[in-house]
Amino acid sequence: MAEERFDVVVIGGGPGGYVAAIRAAQLGLSVACVEKGAALGGTCLNVGCIPSKALLHDSALYEAVEHDFAGRGIAVSGVTLDLARMMARKDAVVATLTKGIAGLFRKNKIARIKGTARLAEEGRVAVALADGGTKTLQASNVIVATGSEPTPLRGVAVDEKRILSSTGALALAKVPKTMAVIGAGFIGLELGSVWRRLGAQVTVIEFLDHVLPPTDREIGKQVQRILARQGLVFRLGTKVTKAKATARRVTLTLEPAAGGEAQEIAVETVLVAVGRRPFTEGLGLTEAGVARDEAGRIVVDDGFRTSAQGVYAIGDVIRGPMLAHKAQEEGVAVAEIIAGQAGHVNYDAIPGVVYTHPEVAAVGRTEEELKAAGIDYRIGKFPFMANSRGRTNGETEGLVKILADARSDRVLGVHIIGSDAGEMIAEAVLGMEFGAAAEDLARTCHAHPSLSEAVKEAALAVAARAIHI
Ligand code: NAI
Repeated sequence: MAEERFDVVVIGGGPGGYVAAIRAAQLGLSVACVEKGAALGGTCLNVGCIPSKALLHDSALYEAVEHDFAGRGIAVSGVTLDLARMMARKDAVVATLTKGIAGLFRKNKIARIKGTARLAEEGRVAVALADGGTKTLQASNVIVATGSEPTPLRGVAVDEKRILSSTGALALAKVPKTMAVIGAGFIGLELGSVWRRLGAQVTVIEFLDHVLPPTDREIGKQVQRILARQGLVFRLGTKVTKAKATARRVTLTLEPAAGGEAQEIAVETVLVAVGRRPFTEGLGLTEAGVARDEAGRIVVDDGFRTSAQGVYAIGDVIRGPMLAHKAQEEGVAVAEIIAGQAGHVNYDAIPGVVYTHPEVAAVGRTEEELKAAGIDYRIGKFPFMANSRGRTNGETEGLVKILADARSDRVLGVHIIGSDAGEMIAEAVLGMEFGAAAEDLARTCHAHPSLSEAVKEAALAVAARAIHI
């Protein structure tokens, strides 16, 4: 059979890969995307961002009906949880969105190839087809966008029954009475929140002495305080050295991170969320001459070129935060570079959002990073307690914190905890993209009453002239 020929072959149909494929097709290139999963969308759409946000939203509503409505004069009785239905809605959302990407592929005339790809000799990709058989594709350019997988934890083997990765924790058939979450990062706090709201007693075990390691420390402390008040139990400075699972429960051996006496706790379910690592298995990278760093990430230059001719890489398999939107930006940029344009990603303006309640959102640098870099900065803060919309909504927890250069007033970092922080951060990202000064945010008219007025007030506070505090 004649080999099919494409200008671009994308390996991986997640947020990085599918966006790269669409952008390349828009630019007039012939494109194939090889994906081994049954559905497009990768981890994010199938077992990550999207299903977790459906469960976070619905579990928050459930908790509100149970604990918040009465105080607002809404009497509800006989509230019950239909977990199967909640899971079915989540699955339907995932199915709709992944089918949506398949539709976008058709619209853009992208060949979707179901199978597992491997780099073959230069300019070729070998595919073991999902339906059996093999196929070789000729490609002038190959984009590796194979994403990441959960990092395993020694002594704690995931079986997706009692000891879960995030994938298992998104599909439990019943609410466990007790759950231990190992790792107080993005996944641990989000999925720990889901199961606590649905009725589990959740203990979060974290190696470090603080939650959400890359987050501004002051914000991290507040997040921990708020989530602890909601009922999450934190065991910080603690490591898990062993897990023993029986049919009914898991016994975890815990040790102080600094060394000391071991202790055991028994729980019904364990979620392991100690980070993710690049997924490059079976790609034939070494044979193809694609270099990786000590963390297993594919090494790329500013144009996403690897050490092998015509092979590019984007998303979780390369350096930088493992975030869907970062991968998407890189997908657009790499396609534009391949098409001869000047694709570019501004890594200083990539937001991060933790979808707990309240949400935690940030862009740019933390205070700790600015101190370490020896940069003089000024701080402006404004609490939602003093924001009128926060009051009307009964959402007064949290604050906006803006860090600006002491001399130029340029915004260097914005950190928000608050309901809808994930939406509010967009104006800070836009501001930073345009090189805004704190004064620019402060002089921008914000609708009243709105939560985003807290951003304006925090920007005013940088110059010690906030109005409402
Ligand atoms: P993470 O890197 O956010 O957090 C892992 C946590 O586990 C850290 O706090 C770390 O100190 C701790 N840890 C590591 N080893 C440990 C041990 N042996 N015992 C106890 N604690 C230990 O990783 P996570 O939460 O697994 O998420 C993986 C990736 O997925 C992240 O890179 C994140 O960016 C992404 N993600 C993003 C989300 C979002 O954007 N909302 C949601 C979920 C995940």
